[in-house]
Amino acid sequence: MNAPLPRYSRITGTGSYLPPNRLTNDDLAAQLAKDGIETSDHWIVERTGIRARHFAAPEVCCSDLALVAAQRALEAADCDAASIDLIIVATSTPDMVFPSTACLLQQKLGVHGCAAFDVQAVCSGFVYALTVADSMIRTGAARKALVIGAEVFSRILDFTDRTTCVLFGDGAGAVVLEASDTPGVLATELHADGRHVNILCVPGTVSGGKVLGDPLLKMDGQAVFKLAVGVLEDVARSVIEKAGRTADDVDWLIPHQANIRILQSTTKRLKMPLDKLIITVDQHGNTSAASIPLALDEGVRGGKIKPGDSLLLAGVGGGFTWGAVLLDL
Ligand code: ACO
Repeated sequence: MNAPLPRYSRITGTGSYLPPNRLTNDDLAAQLAKDGIETSDHWIVERTGIRARHFAAPEVCCSDLALVAAQRALEAADCDAASIDLIIVATSTPDMVFPSTACLLQQKLGVHGCAAFDVQAVCSGFVYALTVADSMIRTGAARKALVIGAEVFSRILDFTDRTTCVLFGDGAGAVVLEASDTPGVLATELHADGRHVNILCVPGTVSGGKVLGDPLLKMDGQAVFKLAVGVLEDVARSVIEKAGRTADDVDWLIPHQANIRILQSTTKRLKMPLDKLIITVDQHGNTSAASIPLALDEGVRGGKIKPGDSLLLAGVGGGFTWGAVLLDL
């Protein structure tokens, strides 16, 4: 007789990694000034809440950041890499066109055989990846997954465009997600609306040995802002309701760290106190798919987030994509 399917998946360890090169707004402003681009710490802090970001060294790839975050999550879960049977990496800045960053990471972890693939949902990537891993665990397709968000957004920034290059940073965050009979992930929800592909995109590709189009990030900041606050509120409410909980039951809100004004506005719309909001955008900038697992790990390691706490993760990003996961740690 087959073993009964697990009722839940549960996070058993978290980890993260930021590359050592940290640039404050003043450092970045001084660098941009050399090319005649004007910006200031005052403008960046006031409009975004960002004070610093980390950039990976040129020879460092997405999978290198993912590797350290994954190793830290495995250690926290007291888990050997060989026991992992699923690796999902959420990224929009993969090492190569193919193979996937997940396969490259698997090689760097020194394991083989388990399923490994990437998920591409830009800044919603981690929420998408966690939802896929949760589904695979609950259907019995996997028992122990490494779910990672990792990005080197510095590689796709246009450093002549001050409206975008001040916003992003590099980093990685990871969790070990295991089959469990106790919660666990309680509710998940994913959405996309391809009508908005143009408001946030990198409209380039590789063809015939050449880069075609423009391989740098383009964004209509105001359009993104308006859409982001609306969908984050809707999807957060929806997963809370699906789980049979209320906003008061949520201990920590961990939204995608795009911009302090989006984070605060979402928290207020959900009528949650601002001190339930985990904020890392001030020190990391927007690290796209890495931002939620990075914030989660910082919250855990910093002692704010405790075992048993109820967490609401909510992502939003290019595509346009959005989604949320409600879980008990
Ligand atoms: N430094 C100084 N001045 C700047 C800078 C800068 N880095 N960037 C723009 N400006 C100037 C503009 O040139 C403009 O000047 P002007 O009035 O003389 O023309 C002025 O500041 C206002 O520009 P806006 O683009 O209207 O600024 P806005 O208030 O909309 O803020 C921002 C821009 C921060 C991008 C805002 O639209 C926003 O927060 N959008 C959300 C987008 C976001 O967070 N994206 C992250 C990625 S998406 C995601 O993760 C979901």
